[in-house]
Amino acid sequence: MNKKTKLQNLNDLKAESILGGGQDRIDVQHKKGRLTARERLDLLLDKGSFREVDPFVVHRTHDFGLDKQKIMSDSVVTGWGTIEGRLVYVYSQDFTVFGGSLGEVHAEKICKIMDMAMKNGAPIIGLNDSGGARIQEGVVALAGYSDIFLRNTMASGVIPQISAIMGPCAGGAVYSPALTDFIFMARDTSYMFVTGPDVVKAVTHEEVTQEELGGASVHSEKSGVCHIAADSEADTLYLIRKLLGYLPQNNMEDAPFIQTDDPLRMDEGLNNIIPDDANKPYDIKEVIRMIMDNGHFYEIHENYAQNIVVGFARLGGHSIGIIANQPAVLAGVLDIDASEKAARFVRFCDAFNIPIITFEDVPGFLPGTFQEHHGIIRSGAKLLYAYCEATVPKLTVITRKAYGGAYCVMSSKHIRSDVNLAWPTAEIAVMGPDGAVNIIFRKELEKAKDPVKKKAELVAEYKEKFASPYVAAQRGYIDDVIEPKETRPRLINALEMLSNKRDSNPAKKHGNIPL
Ligand code: HXC
Repeated sequence: MNKKTKLQNLNDLKAESILGGGQDRIDVQHKKGRLTARERLDLLLDKGSFREVDPFVVHRTHDFGLDKQKIMSDSVVTGWGTIEGRLVYVYSQDFTVFGGSLGEVHAEKICKIMDMAMKNGAPIIGLNDSGGARIQEGVVALAGYSDIFLRNTMASGVIPQISAIMGPCAGGAVYSPALTDFIFMARDTSYMFVTGPDVVKAVTHEEVTQEELGGASVHSEKSGVCHIAADSEADTLYLIRKLLGYLPQNNMEDAPFIQTDDPLRMDEGLNNIIPDDANKPYDIKEVIRMIMDNGHFYEIHENYAQNIVVGFARLGGHSIGIIANQPAVLAGVLDIDASEKAARFVRFCDAFNIPIITFEDVPGFLPGTFQEHHGIIRSGAKLLYAYCEATVPKLTVITRKAYGGAYCVMSSKHIRSDVNLAWPTAEIAVMGPDGAVNIIFRKELEKAKDPVKKKAELVAEYKEKFASPYVAAQRGYIDDVIEPKETRPRLINALEMLSNKRDSNPAKKHGNIPL
């Protein structure tokens, strides 16, 4: 073969490898409303930035006629590229080749790219579309999964790991995403389940569709497995690009600083946002938008445990993580799901040097047998543990209620929060006035000629004494009481004051968070 023919040969081989399972299977993929592995990478990465690795790798299996099928490459495309000019490593599973199933070389390709991401300190993004372990490859496929799980675990807290579910994600395929930091799902075309509808029917006699078993709605609203459910594949990839803007490349770096709004801007509307009646709801997301740069808030887990709100924003150009009780849903009470949602988010921010801002308006923990029987003690402890352990700058704003154990948990001064501010509408006490009066004045109320009038007097007295921020402020548990409209400049000032913060935990192998 002369040089010219060799060059032509190379080009032919590359053109073939791009076809994966062949044009017919690509057409089927399109008919299902799905993009191919390479089309997805084109949308995810900066134009022309993708550099593929291992395009010539194909499986080495001869069993079950696997070697008789014409395929041009194995079922995953791997490499690196950039998003907004910043390096990322990627893998994108190719459903047109053996249903995107994971065999020996598929796993080897992913591991290679994960090792590079770790060594070079850049995020890894996996686009998943797979029937799970390649059945024809037996235990070798299981070994491949295990190799990936180990790398996901080692990379946890070192580089951001993001998973997008773009098609079926069945069997072992779900556990690598489950070990990563954020799971995105494309609505109507993606599914995640450990055992599919056929197995469910055989074992439990329950008839369920893929959507009912593990669609984007199920995982973003009920199970909490999915952090962001997007309207389409293109939207999923766009939202991943946006998320990365808030994250550092690795745990040794800070997130990018992007100044786009006036740090001294004040919003008068904040002074009127808390209703006069302490039991009336308001939307904490409105408060967040009024304070953050350009009113932007990138919410995580928007449709799951909505009584707590978590997500990213910029404040004075600094990327920050927000945890906020939501008085508009279940009065902002802490329950099992809310505690777990917030705990995981706190730990992500802490691992990646992202300061945490807590907005607090919480009447306490949700009472009841369901919560007790399902372990609210353990779940609440997770959030407490996460806040206690976090060493990034921590700022707290108490907008209204901070009652009971929830006061301690929600980044109180006592668990190493750095700057704690309260609005004049704050109420900080062991419990709300009604419950408190019923307990401590039970005998007086029984003896009273007019118990209703007596109770109203006692409630008013209790409110006067405790339903304010000043008892806490007198003890220094609150650093200052501020006008709500001052919140933005005060938080930005505090963030800058804390920019060189150094804090650490005692040396240990690892703690034992109550899982
Ligand atoms: C080998 C597979 C495969 C697999 C699909 N294919 N899954 N090949 N191993 N796991 C092949 C199909 O045979 C088919 O090949 C092609 O991919 C497309 O699949 P279809 O079934 O035609 O597609 P669709 O109707 O869209 O259904 C997709 C699916 C379904 C829902 C993913 O294929 C399915 O249920 N697959 C099996 C899922 C599963 O049970 N996986 C668990 C494996 S055990 P042809 O040539 O006919 O077109 C596991 C344990 C790991 O993962 C544990 C680690 C902890």
